[in-house]
Amino acid sequence: MALVLIIGASRGIGLGLTQAYLDAGHRVIATVRQAADQQRLQALGAEARVVDVANPASVSGLAWQLDGEEIDLALYVAGVWSDLDAGTPPTQQQFDQVMHTNVLGAMQVLPQVAPLVAAAGGVFALLSSEMSCLGTAEPDAWLYRVSKAALNMVVASSQAQWPGATLVALDPGWVQTEMGGAGAPLTLAQSVAGMVQTLAGVTPADGGRLLRYDGTRVQAD
Ligand SMILES: NC(=O)c1ccc[n+]([C@@H]2O[C@H](COP(=O)([O-])OP(=O)(O)OC[C@H]3O[C@@H](n4cnc5c(N)ncnc54)[C@H](OP(=O)(O)O)[C@@H]3O)[C@@H](O)[C@H]2O)c1
Repeated sequence: MALVLIIGASRGIGLGLTQAYLDAGHRVIATVRQAADQQRLQALGAEARVVDVANPASVSGLAWQLDGEEIDLALYVAGVWSDLDAGTPPTQQQFDQVMHTNVLGAMQVLPQVAPLVAAAGGVFALLSSEMSCLGTAEPDAWLYRVSKAALNMVVASSQAQWPGATLVALDPGWVQTEMGGAGAPLTLAQSVAGMVQTLAGVTPADGGRLLRYDGTRVQAD
């Protein structure tokens, strides 16, 4: 039985991953923002903790909540969408909201969690997107794209800091969740099954790279 930490597990992909790892018999620590979600996750069998990645005080409380744990697999799933097209300047508030959750939160969570993953020789996957790639960039959702491209760099630049852990950016595909919408080509079950299989096959050589849910190693530039 492995210990799996899932940050952002109230719904969508985080909830799907939580259910999948619980079904496989693993111990799962899952974080949510609301007390009602905490009770729901506990009823599923997860150890639910409350963390808002956009609140630095909440993030700094994560370390003591995880004190002494060795984490085989950590997943930073929390993320927010923005549909602003290229050329439409974000307001400071829009920029801060997206970049805080998708980038700053990850940069503040990493130093708390990566040492615990390194202690287990484990994997830390941070949910990115194919929309982060420079070579296939389109004008839609530029703030979101910028945030996920920055997240890829968070992963790539911090790998050497925690050599005992393997850090990867993980693209779940375009998935039928609240963020992905009902018209997305992948069901939650398809994306989750692919990610679980891909994560089981991660090796240290993947450190710092972007992986797709189907196991493809993506060229992000
Ligand atoms: N769906 C797709 O097609 C797709 C494609 C590529 C990448 N992704 C990425 O995959 C991840 C999950 O996406 P999803 O489709 O499951 O999105 P979703 O259905 O919109 O769920 C977003 C999750 O992030 C949590 N969250 C948001 N802000 C947070 C914060 N400040 N602190 C803690 N948790 C926070 C939400 O919690 P609350 O319930 O409390 O709001 C929720 O659990 C995201 O990083 C997203 O960018 C998704």
